Amino acid sequence: MASFRSRRPLAIMNVVVTGGAGFIGSHFLNLLVPRYPEHRFVNVDVLTYAANLMNLAPIAEAANYQFERVDIADRDAVDALFDRVQPDLVVHFAAESHVDRSIHSPDAFVRTNITGTFNLLEATRAQAQRRPVTFHHVSTDEVFGSLGPTGFFVETTPYDPSSPYSASKAASDHLVRAYHRTYGLPVRITNCSNNYGPCQFPEKLIPLMILNAAEGKPLPVYGEGTNVRDWLYVTDHCEAIWAVIQKGRLGETYNIGGRAEKKNIDVVHAICAAVAEETGRPVDALLGQIKYVEDRPGHDHRYAIDPAKVERECGFVPSETFESGLRKTVQFYLGNPDWVTQVRSGEYRAWIDRNYTRRS
Ligand code: NAD
Ligand code: DAU
Repeated sequence: MASFRSRRPLAIMNVVVTGGAGFIGSHFLNLLVPRYPEHRFVNVDVLTYAANLMNLAPIAEAANYQFERVDIADRDAVDALFDRVQPDLVVHFAAESHVDRSIHSPDAFVRTNITGTFNLLEATRAQAQRRPVTFHHVSTDEVFGSLGPTGFFVETTPYDPSSPYSASKAASDHLVRAYHRTYGLPVRITNCSNNYGPCQFPEKLIPLMILNAAEGKPLPVYGEGTNVRDWLYVTDHCEAIWAVIQKGRLGETYNIGGRAEKKNIDVVHAICAAVAEETGRPVDALLGQIKYVEDRPGHDHRYAIDPAKVERECGFVPSETFESGLRKTVQFYLGNPDWVTQVRSGEYRAWIDRNYTRRS
């Protein structure tokens, strides 16, 4: 096994954050860039449909923040970037992340989630021959497949992915773990449950339902609506990742969740209630918009995380309950019609294409 120099304590760091223009990555950067002016954060993102640089407006001009438009599936571009930046820490969010899209077009999921992660691991391994660098891999509870009516995902639950998305994330997790075991690369992995919050691309359940409810459109519930997801507010996920980076053990996996499992239909009812309160529309009218539609193929029935390890070892405690987080989320989508219009119209994409040309 190759030996790498042990990590120096958290001093001045060059931090590469992949996928920093996406939903979770942008919250992560907005939290950490102002908190650590001594660290340099480099956001590496190719800017797919899911990216929105406008979400990074609070830090866009920060002296310790920089954006690099790079495709992680492009090996030469990743190697060149790592040689330029010389990261001490890599936090890897970039992915194709939507299960429904992976059913329709799986190719991009294999390319970005598997080949992209492989390229980052290789570039990190090359850097690690010369200087200390750690790799944090952001993954999902979907790698574990579906639970029955009882029990929880723990870190040792066997992998059993159901969709091209979760299979590609499972493959990436295996690669990260293999690089630790084979090459001694200092890595950590986190597997998190469903995130929600402001600035999520409005094709996933919660933002889609909020906007459709407010606009009088149908609320499409897959199957019977009895599938269960375990919800965590996005900034709680970001704080958990940072806690694992600071306190988690190298080579270890940590499951992250907020003990908030809910049936999809109950989530939709809670959204209708919150939208009704915020808009003054009668809740019965909103509930009447619910339409049961055909089920998602391979739809996992239940996800539920046991977060005991990250709580015990890293001191993670979520700040938001599902009720408080959902209210903030509803207020964001109802209170920012310009953001919604821009994201839906593709106006922000045109702005990105005008302002950011690919470097490689
Ligand atoms: P997202 O789809 O909102 O953002 C993904 C980002 O990655 C985008 O900015 C996109 O442009 C970028 N990207 C995609 N392909 C790229 C490529 N080839 N090169 C460079 N950048 C590329 O995703 P998200 O919801 O923010 O999820 C971030 C990470 O967290 C993913 O790895 C996902 O698997 C994981 N995760 C998400 C959730 C969730 O509920 N959203 C839960 C657990 C884990
Ligand atoms: O569990 C973590 C995962 O959560 C992440 O790894 C993924 O990146 C993220 O997209 C999310 O995956 P899901 O498939 O669970 O999220 P989605 O919002 O697409 O769906 C949540 C649930 O709601 C799921 O059971 C399917 C259902 N659903 C979804 C949509 C978009 C509906 O019933 N109707 C819908 O229109």
